[in-house]
Amino acid sequence: MQSLKGKKAIITGGSRGIGAATALELAKEGVNLGIVGRSEENLNQIKEKLSQYDVNVFTAKADVRYESDITQAIKELTDQLGHVDILINNAGMGAYGEFLELTTEDWNKVLQTNVMGIVHTTKAVLPGMIDRKTGDIINISSMSGLKGTKGSSAYSASKFAVNGLTESLMQEVRPHNIRVSTITPSLVETDLTRGEDGERNPDKFTQAEDLAEYMVSLLKLEQRSFIKTSAIWATNPF
Ligand SMILES: NC(=O)c1ccc[n+]([C@@H]2O[C@H](COP(=O)([O-])OP(=O)(O)OC[C@H]3O[C@@H](n4cnc5c(N)ncnc54)[C@H](OP(=O)(O)O)[C@@H]3O)[C@@H](O)[C@H]2O)c1
Repeated sequence: MQSLKGKKAIITGGSRGIGAATALELAKEGVNLGIVGRSEENLNQIKEKLSQYDVNVFTAKADVRYESDITQAIKELTDQLGHVDILINNAGMGAYGEFLELTTEDWNKVLQTNVMGIVHTTKAVLPGMIDRKTGDIINISSMSGLKGTKGSSAYSASKFAVNGLTESLMQEVRPHNIRVSTITPSLVETDLTRGEDGERNPDKFTQAEDLAEYMVSLLKLEQRSFIKTSAIWATNPF
């Protein structure tokens, strides 16, 4: 196992949910952080929570859908951090409804966020990793990227695309010692899934912290090895 202390990571959507839990877990390991999100208020909240750890934390407000926006944010964060060792492409959204109910706008929004967001962000980070001949990229996909279900055509299409682009990129950059992997979780209890019915029983559903701890263990593997894809399920959600 390698130590993560002193490494530098950028997390998109690091202000809430899985991204925020990952930021906290990485900070515990001594990783310096650059966090991207759309809301200044959410970014300030996670920055405040991270202030208990002895790491540098920088935030940048950007919408991953817009290439110029996210490219500028990555540049600012990279300049502040020095370089980027770890990129967690986590920002994402859902779009649910039967096929004929989903509008073209719904499709564009989910594909721009979940797919093009990863493309834009990775294009801005990857050249530095190739120059340094090392790096880690984790793309957060979903179980919906492995299996289509009723009412999730747009979300599923976006996450199937994430799996395809990740696998191709992984093959391209292995020769530069860069590890690119996907995680395909089933339901994780966050704002995205909690809905109107409020809190769920935490023993029944995967928590964002579980995923965050798992990501730390992936990153700690010696650089010569990596786990290409991981499907995380709740043990007993029934
Ligand atoms: N929760 C689940 O059950 C589950 C299961 C499988 C996969 N996933 C995937 O895990 C990832 C995180 O999900 P989550 O449940 O943690 O969601 P969440 O609680 O809704 O948090 C989403 C995060 O992404 C940011 N974000 C959303 N759209 C953005 C955009 N266009 N540009 C920049 N930042 C954006 C949000 O911040 P702002 O709102 O402030 O921008 C927030 O920090 C997503 O890719 C999701 O598809 C989730």
